[in-house]
Amino acid sequence: MKKLTDSIYYCGVLNPNMRVFDVIMRTEYGTSYNSYIVRGSEKTAIVEAAHRTFSNSYIGELEEFFGDTAPDYLVLNHTEPDHTGCVAALVTRWPGLTVVCSRPASVFIKAITNMPELAIQVVAEGDELDLGGRTLKFFPAMFLHWPDSMFTWVPEENALFTCDFLGAHYCEPLVLDSEVVYENAYLDAAKYYYECIFGPFPSYVRAGLEIIRNLDVRTALTSHGPVLTRGNYLECIIEAYGEWSAPVERTRKSVPIFYCTAYRNTQRLAEAVREGVLRALPDADVGLYNIIEHDMGELAAKMNGSDAFLIGTITINRDAVPPVMQLLTLTDSVNIGKRPVAVFGTYGWSGEGFPHVAERLQSVGCRVYDTQFKVNFVPTDADIRAAADFGEQFAKTI
Ligand code: FEO
Repeated sequence: MKKLTDSIYYCGVLNPNMRVFDVIMRTEYGTSYNSYIVRGSEKTAIVEAAHRTFSNSYIGELEEFFGDTAPDYLVLNHTEPDHTGCVAALVTRWPGLTVVCSRPASVFIKAITNMPELAIQVVAEGDELDLGGRTLKFFPAMFLHWPDSMFTWVPEENALFTCDFLGAHYCEPLVLDSEVVYENAYLDAAKYYYECIFGPFPSYVRAGLEIIRNLDVRTALTSHGPVLTRGNYLECIIEAYGEWSAPVERTRKSVPIFYCTAYRNTQRLAEAVREGVLRALPDADVGLYNIIEHDMGELAAKMNGSDAFLIGTITINRDAVPPVMQLLTLTDSVNIGKRPVAVFGTYGWSGEGFPHVAERLQSVGCRVYDTQFKVNFVPTDADIRAAADFGEQFAKTI
């Protein structure tokens, strides 16, 4: 337990050894599940909880703090199970706890705990909870990063509980940003975290930053990674979020081509398709990417940030090859709707990879070009010319 301000204590869990978070995020610097206590003269609130794996040690630490007393409220700014997995155990330990959360969270938390009778106080914009000398004031923070997310403000401490916002999967282990030793590693973790968690929601990020700018925040109590304090990393991370979420002004269309090739046949098609795209859009940025030669995260950023893109695949075992499908699992389905896309490639026996790629793109809402350009085995000169025509015709639809 670490005292952070007059009335706020840190009671979270440090997990420096975690290497994969939620299946899809690498966490080479570990993470923490930050949880806090706000103590007023009348009432005490826990803000955020922890992952189910750590229930025993987490509750043990709270027991030491509360002794014969009991917490009154459990404020959940968001209900993803990394923060709520131990809520059922918490409520079992202290049955008088009232969960305080947004309306969507009130639905989610019942399904997460399987406790339909959970005592819940739903709060909305501007609602306040008086703890006695300390006030909790609530701000909805929709899609930062779930529909249930909110911020909780303690005006007497100039402290804002920001939920996942401004956080990082980073654990040296430490609690405060003033303790960060490896600055480059921390900033790398903060940027990667932003891209994975908030990248799909830039307009909501800007709205969140607006809330923060309207408050005189001295301490941002994040749900992962260092607590941010003024004069240390608070200003830097807020500024970085502003840059990362700024609308992109692009003067050239971006039409990347991603492909896999076994014997250079699909690669030759990709090169020809590129020429065709450039015939229709001479100023476009038409990058050519052999998928296995690049970092998948970088390719996903190019794909999701494009105006249109093409996928060139081969077929093995009646399907598109794994690197192609892996890239397609990284489509930003929040923002990719109606994106023009096209599919091409070479095949040996029957070419099932093409429809599978097209179906996947269709399922996330892309506008899939009707024609799939396919060549059996080795392209002829005529095939190469036809591939360029295909690229040109597709580009005219963008
Ligand atoms: Fe850290 Fe969205 O939960």
